[in-house]
Amino acid sequence: MTEGGYSAASDWFAAYVNGFRDAGGALPPALQLKLEHSLRVAEDAGRIAAELGRDPAYVRLARAAGLLHDIGRFAQFSSSGNFSDSSSDHGEAGAGVMASRSGEFISDPAEAALITCSVRWHNRRTGDIPGDLAGPEAALLLLVRDADKLDIMRIALESMERDGFSDLPSMLPGVSLSGDITPGTLEAAGDCSLPASSLRTLSDFIIMVLGWFRDFNYAPSLRLALRRGIPEKLRSRLPAGPAVDGFFKDILEAARAGAGI
Ligand SMILES: [Fe+2]
Repeated sequence: MTEGGYSAASDWFAAYVNGFRDAGGALPPALQLKLEHSLRVAEDAGRIAAELGRDPAYVRLARAAGLLHDIGRFAQFSSSGNFSDSSSDHGEAGAGVMASRSGEFISDPAEAALITCSVRWHNRRTGDIPGDLAGPEAALLLLVRDADKLDIMRIALESMERDGFSDLPSMLPGVSLSGDITPGTLEAAGDCSLPASSLRTLSDFIIMVLGWFRDFNYAPSLRLALRRGIPEKLRSRLPAGPAVDGFFKDILEAARAGAGI
């Protein structure tokens, strides 16, 4: 992607988001957070691509894919007032936005197809991603998924530090801010088979997020997470005990090995 191409995509995104502002120019708070998330995912996607040694054109493509990955969230929130994943697939909706609007800001159909693929599949469980994606499509998708995970981890930690993650029960109905680790959670998270629907407590949620360390795709993503101290910060929010200690030790060792450090 050229510099001009990235500017066009970035300008289009800003204008698209502006369409959801009120008369005073403000976004609903949830969409303001989504905008800030999109901007950070764009930066991390670019960072990961650069650390992988990709050329500047690819770094810009990665940034654009990160910027646009949640494009389906804006209309979803505007029409439903929530980000429920059970009632709407925002990846598929975002791919629809790309299909109808990307001609306004991307002239290269190959770039549009790559970004659309990342938008469409970024939110699926790893096992649900089609195995027959073309190599370049899969590579960009996996990069966006890594950048997205990094920022979700950051958002979760910030929320915990701010107010104990008071928003969590509204984001994940059925999840309580108190309570122990639900039996079976550590085991399921350890082999990446813990769905959000099985979470019952904040501790379960933290364990699920720690389990994502087995699901990063690129060493630079893991290095960024380790540099930011994310595993230790998440661990500090969990109860003490040998089962959690063993789980955390395995996760940290796997993360360091994956990061190549
Ligand atoms: Fe998303």
